Amino acid sequence: MTQSHSFDVVIVGSGAAGLSTALSLAPHLKVAVLAKGEISEGSTAWAQGGIAAVLEPGDTFESHVEDTVRAGAGLNDRRTVEFVVGNAPAAIDRLAALGVPFDRGGEAGWHLTREGGHSHRRIVHVADATGAAVQQALEKAVAARPNIVLFPGRAAIDLATGRHTIAGGGEPRVWGVYALDRAAGRVELFTGRATVLATGGASRAWLYSTNPRGSTGDGIAMAWRAGCRVSNMEFAQFHPTCLYHHDVRNFLITEAMRGEGGQLKLPGSGRRFMPAFDARAELAPRDVVARAIDHELKRLGLDYVHLDISHRDPVFVRAHFPTIAARLADLGIDITRQPIPVVPAAHYTCGGVVVDLDGRSDLPGLYAAGEVSMSGLHGANRLASNSVLECLVFGVASAEHINLLFGDLTPPPPPMRAWDESRVTDSDEEVVVHHNWREIRRFMWDYVGIVRTTKRLERALNRVALLRQETEDYYGHFRVTADLIELRSLVTVAELIVRSALARKESRGLHYTLDYPEVLPEARDTVLVP
Ligand code: FAD
Ligand code: SIN
Repeated sequence: MTQSHSFDVVIVGSGAAGLSTALSLAPHLKVAVLAKGEISEGSTAWAQGGIAAVLEPGDTFESHVEDTVRAGAGLNDRRTVEFVVGNAPAAIDRLAALGVPFDRGGEAGWHLTREGGHSHRRIVHVADATGAAVQQALEKAVAARPNIVLFPGRAAIDLATGRHTIAGGGEPRVWGVYALDRAAGRVELFTGRATVLATGGASRAWLYSTNPRGSTGDGIAMAWRAGCRVSNMEFAQFHPTCLYHHDVRNFLITEAMRGEGGQLKLPGSGRRFMPAFDARAELAPRDVVARAIDHELKRLGLDYVHLDISHRDPVFVRAHFPTIAARLADLGIDITRQPIPVVPAAHYTCGGVVVDLDGRSDLPGLYAAGEVSMSGLHGANRLASNSVLECLVFGVASAEHINLLFGDLTPPPPPMRAWDESRVTDSDEEVVVHHNWREIRRFMWDYVGIVRTTKRLERALNRVALLRQETEDYYGHFRVTADLIELRSLVTVAELIVRSALARKESRGLHYTLDYPEVLPEARDTVLVP
């Protein structure tokens, strides 16, 4: 018997996008927020540099828009960019009102830092741990709202759609999700008139990533399986500066360090190399810097390059980067005196579920907000610190649309089918899951990385086809587990990424292929239709 929870709105994901949506929904709506693990386990709590917004005289919306479109290599939807940039100051005010202790200073009261691709200082931040402060404030605000119920430890498996109604053959519409209660080991149904995917990105599809473990693209895979278009998946952003260390993986060194003067140097000679690649040197957009590092690593056979901020006053360095300074001190690196070994790592998914300015997907009843979505903001490369911003703005936009349309227009969910476990048993071959997970991340790193070729992408597509078959076969026979849910997502998103990359016959933004090094005159989204 499948336990069923009935809500007005079901939100899958408890990062900046999910919690912002929840907080903007009308207080009379009963809202469920699901998280795969702990509530604060997503990328949001790991964000370091800050949030971009025009907050000072001298900076302008036009400039933020132009920087976003320039970084995005012209593929952005200008209407979306203007919408997000225009709503940014209000989003920051809301967070400040919730108690986020942004660093203060400057003309208009904010301390603004700088990051690559921005032509002004416009990043508000809480030292180098902005995301943790944002996540904490949002969670505190949610805790004070009796209409919002949090469900940690629930891994959504699939959207409940018209196909899952007891009557069968229902309209193509979303009525909630089936999710695994990880502690109890059983599948539950959460129904709602509106469902919001806020599940974050898919950067864990690569071997080296700055992301937490849960970034496996579950929401993208679920939406795709349910019939939504997915777009621009080839644009995987590799952050240029992830710590290179034997014992610590996934630790980002914020771009703000380059914004405050950090220089990229070759180990040994100590020579700066970025000026030879781009006039903006270390402050070029991420795609340019990551490619330059990749080039130097391969050219010289290096394991890493150095990021060096030791020329700046130690008091300044410790005040601006306290978290990084402390973490690296634990590893024996004094960043006020020594350079930091860094490598690029998969960081952000620019593509995702296609949404409009209200966060609506292709399927009635389904919204998507934040990194899971493709709103048109980022184009071919996300500008630094525009991501948390997108979560905040689209969280509110989705909620406002749900509030507006809720009433009589939306019928209550019809009776839905129970989760069918009659034909599965407990797995006796868990090794398949772990092996396939490792294999995907390895070939994505080797064949679908910063610099691509058609031949390598085709190799990746062959591999993914095999793994997909094996994984689906496994899924059909064995009881679902959290690892299996993630593997199934990874296989799906890996295929979407490779297919999108093969479809793009040019090099634009984050997608760089040796076979098509030129930029085509017309900027077009890659849209995959299920
Ligand atoms: P997340 O915060 O990732 O939350 C996803 C949520 O979905 C989690 O609660 C997770 O449990 C849940 N979930 C996922 N799958 C399932 C499932 N199957 N079932 C149930 N729940 C599920 N951006 C900036 O703008 N500025 C920065 O300074 C910045 N720094 C960053 C630093 C790091 C190290 C990283 C990794 C990212 C950084 N980013 C930054 C990017 C930014 O943090 C993320 O893009 C953004 O926070 C994503 O928010 P989100 O709400 O979309 O998803
Ligand atoms: C960083 O602090 O470098 C990450 C900023 C971002 O991903 O936007």
